[in-house]
Amino acid sequence: MKKIIVANWKMNPQKVEDAKSIFAGIKKVASKMSKVETVVCPPFLYLNSLGSSTSKSVGKSNSQVKLGAQDAFWVNPMEGKGSFTGEISPDMLKMTGAKYVIIGHSERRENLVETNEMVNRKIKAAFEAGLKVIFCIGEKERDAEHEYLRFIKIEIEEGLKGIKKINFKNLVIAYEPIWAIGKKGADADTPAGVLEMGLYIRKTLQPIVGKDLTHDIPIIYGGSAEPGNVEALLKEGGVQGFLVGHASLKPSQFNEILKITNNI
Ligand code: PGA
Repeated sequence: MKKIIVANWKMNPQKVEDAKSIFAGIKKVASKMSKVETVVCPPFLYLNSLGSSTSKSVGKSNSQVKLGAQDAFWVNPMEGKGSFTGEISPDMLKMTGAKYVIIGHSERRENLVETNEMVNRKIKAAFEAGLKVIFCIGEKERDAEHEYLRFIKIEIEEGLKGIKKINFKNLVIAYEPIWAIGKKGADADTPAGVLEMGLYIRKTLQPIVGKDLTHDIPIIYGGSAEPGNVEALLKEGGVQGFLVGHASLKPSQFNEILKITNNI
């Protein structure tokens, strides 16, 4: 299985010129990584310019570097409804050349009160439009009673409720413990913790996606993934890639993560 490294730029950078320059810096290295699929998720506004301003190969299905969005709404205007002020449909995203969409990021769940049901509707709409979905899950804290495992289970079960089996080949699970996001590399989850969670996620996925597909779904880790911790997380944590926030805005750091991953 090819590793997947996703750059989540969040609400950065403030200028399109800077977005183009960071993207160009990443693309130079990412396009040479044969064992890694790189997905850059800028703010919506930059998708068109990044798709067209750089090489024509970006966004093509055979390219090593793909574009993705950080969210999508649950209704496609193709279905005849478009009265959703401020929202972006999966079809609009597809037209920019985006191949992926992040859904259910904890910052949206927490700050914008995105529920499991909303996440589920968004995942369905994104799959209908033919996008690949990076489905984010993760607990707020690790309590001694292991209540967090139940929380993860419910996120998975409700998020994937009623999804057609054919779509699971387009699913990536991003495990992002909220307590590890936006910190320093040393604050990321441990390889042992990630390994254990990966096994739990696959066990939870099995009745939903079927035994045959359970092991084909990539599980990537997010939460202060940096050049200093990715090797151990890959080797001992058993993850298939990373969802990278702050380090993805610095091409030197992000490219280091790409190279380390490509060499494993
Ligand atoms: P971080 O962000 O790498 O800055 O922790 C990850 C994320 O929120 O996706």
